[in-house]
Amino acid sequence: MDRIRIVGGRPLKGSIPISGAKNAALPLMAACLLTDKPLTLTNLPALADIKTLTSLLEQHGVKVTPGDRQITMEAKEIPNTVAPYDIVRRMRASVLVLGPLLARFGNAVVSMPGGCAIGTRPIDLHLGALEKMGAKIHIGRGYIHAEAPKGLKGANVRFDKVSVGATENVLMAAALAKGETVIDNAAREPEVTDLAKCLVAMGAKIEGMGTEKLVVKGVPRLEGATHKIVADRIEAGTYAMAAAITHGDLTLEGAEAEHLAALSEVLRKTGAKVEESKAGIRIAGNGAIAGADVITEPFPGFPTDLQAQYMALMAVSDGAAMITETIFENRYMHAPELSRMGANITIHGSSALVRGVEKLFGAEVMATDLRASSSLVLAGLVAEGETIINRIYHLDRGYENLEKKLSDCGAEIERLPGGR
Ligand code: EPZ
Repeated sequence: MDRIRIVGGRPLKGSIPISGAKNAALPLMAACLLTDKPLTLTNLPALADIKTLTSLLEQHGVKVTPGDRQITMEAKEIPNTVAPYDIVRRMRASVLVLGPLLARFGNAVVSMPGGCAIGTRPIDLHLGALEKMGAKIHIGRGYIHAEAPKGLKGANVRFDKVSVGATENVLMAAALAKGETVIDNAAREPEVTDLAKCLVAMGAKIEGMGTEKLVVKGVPRLEGATHKIVADRIEAGTYAMAAAITHGDLTLEGAEAEHLAALSEVLRKTGAKVEESKAGIRIAGNGAIAGADVITEPFPGFPTDLQAQYMALMAVSDGAAMITETIFENRYMHAPELSRMGANITIHGSSALVRGVEKLFGAEVMATDLRASSSLVLAGLVAEGETIINRIYHLDRGYENLEKKLSDCGAEIERLPGGR
């Protein structure tokens, strides 16, 4: 398995083009199942997860035509509505085909996604909402068997906790359901809004985009569309912290300032300079990193997907920070690896107290999940000496050309093929 080698200590300077968002591209690709017309997505990031979902859609019968940073998908004939375990287990977002398959074809057999490194990741909210819309669902031998032979009907759905995936599954199902669906306590993440915008371009009737209350009037069919995928705020936030941790100066081209307001506010508290412009966001470190507490929350709060990276930044702060993870129950797998580099982190339940240390030391470390691996990259960029990160297939799921984007800004970073 590939590894990454970093020699730390260089301030990053220059500009980084931000790719299309992985967490928007995945639901948008699933939306192709809602119509027999071609759906084209542009600003498509080249990521492992996109390849995985492409193979899932192709085994359903979707005709996929890849282009240069874009993809066209045509779900004319879908002879197979089974999403198999060997694909779903590799990427939980595969469960996003459930709503579209059910809404358009009246049946779906989707493998239970199973847990992952950061938590058990149940899908009870997805299933409960679809049942309210008239689906008959039972789980057998690790698969979700869902039927709605007479189609789905609109319903009042209220999520007792904010769920990005459940909001997206129900939004897609409601677009073709008979009647009106109201989704209360809907996720407000920019990727959910991007999906809603694309569905409207396909002919869906959706109100309340960006708010916690979405109202969808079902239509009998949807058309094709061409949609540009929103910029990846988590990639941008990761590189923003790379600028801060290396006391560098980076411009993140194409990043949307309002999608990173919570992070920008915290980075300013730590002493970084954050300037927002049409071109994107510019972040400059200033030699000192003050400690600042963070609690992860659904959008527009501080994103859970930036928590691991922020822990690396606080590990070299001049003070201390209390980080509280409220979204996932096991999202501190990066902490022991950072400690092996010299970080001083104490975990108490869902909170982590990070006491800043003078410096981190390069070491051989292990990536455990996507965002944990980017946390180790940030630590490696500032650690003294060489850091080797193993199992970076985790990183390749969500970061396009990471080594090139960083080495173009002065980082000493390279990919080492092979290794354990
Ligand atoms: C999406 O996952 C993202 N993935 C995650 O990004 C992100 O961390 C997460 O939203 C939260 O923002 C994609 O968009 C592909 P949730 P999702 O449903 O939809 C619980 C990354 O690093 N829950 O909002 O699976 C769940 O266990 C990934 O890019 C239920 O209890 O997250 C969690 O505690 C990691 N029942 C909380 O809700 C359900 O039916 C939020 O999960 C569904 C979720």
